[in-house]
Amino acid sequence: MSAQSDLVHMFNGIPFSTRASIELLQSLDSFEVRADDLLLASYPKSGTHWLTEILKHLYHSQQAANGGKSMTLTTSIEFGDPFKFEELKNLPSLRLIPTHLNYRMLPVQFKTKKCKMIYIIRNPKDTAVSFYHYYRENANLPKIKKWATFLEMFMKGEVVCGSWWHHILSWEEHMNDDNVLILYYESMKKDLLKSIEQICNFLGISVTDQQMREISRRSSFKEMKEEAQRENPAPDHTVCVLTSNRQLVFRKGTVGDWKNYFTSEQNKHFEEQFRSRMNSSELAKSIIYES
Ligand code: A3P
Repeated sequence: MSAQSDLVHMFNGIPFSTRASIELLQSLDSFEVRADDLLLASYPKSGTHWLTEILKHLYHSQQAANGGKSMTLTTSIEFGDPFKFEELKNLPSLRLIPTHLNYRMLPVQFKTKKCKMIYIIRNPKDTAVSFYHYYRENANLPKIKKWATFLEMFMKGEVVCGSWWHHILSWEEHMNDDNVLILYYESMKKDLLKSIEQICNFLGISVTDQQMREISRRSSFKEMKEEAQRENPAPDHTVCVLTSNRQLVFRKGTVGDWKNYFTSEQNKHFEEQFRSRMNSSELAKSIIYES
């Protein structure tokens, strides 16, 4: 097993996977953004792959129907070394670019060019549980045996990509920008068709009701998990900087699994932290913990 120092390093006070090189993190602002780039942002384990799958099908459906723009999915913007920016230059538009960066760290041109950005949020308790399993199963992350240890690290922002609270609050400052769409994992679970409609309106994509139902079917947890099991892991198969193995992504896909992990003491402590950190947060008000 690799030492923790081989897997995680600090940048700007935030722990990052060493799969995001310091050189790349230092040169983020040099990334040449195109006005039609679409940024897909999230804190890890918030449903990024799910959302990506929906977007992929949406663009394919639109292109098949009326020759609209095709979409090229890139690896996460912070994955690799600065040479990666050269590779992205060669990709055709429209590029769908995933990231786990907080808003402040985004390459500056995403902001100056007012690119469209979709930010997906998941309730932090399920996010923590999902992240815990990712830590346990992902060879690119340090091994953490106990749930209690991980939860403490999560609450202190000592996990890769840093603090959930900071991440959400950095995006909250831009929640009303015209070029930003905020989605919630739990709302997608509750009414996926409605969420797909929201995405279509935001991106100016139109698909038929039948296409929408088909997209919903093909992006179901079961379909995506089975598809991942048929694939060979390859570096560009995930949209998460933390792994190249899609099979690690599809675990349960439910809302409320946290109840199987949090003790009542841990829940109380978490709720206190949540109240003190997210007290004035608008985004926090819409977070749902149960299905
Ligand atoms: P669990 O570990 O709770 O199962 P990300 O893509 O950001 O890494 O998030 C991974 C989480 O999203 C995992 O949560 C995974 O199961 C869930 N997920 C992935 N695809 C999904 C889908 N189609 N429907 C619902 N949840 C999905």
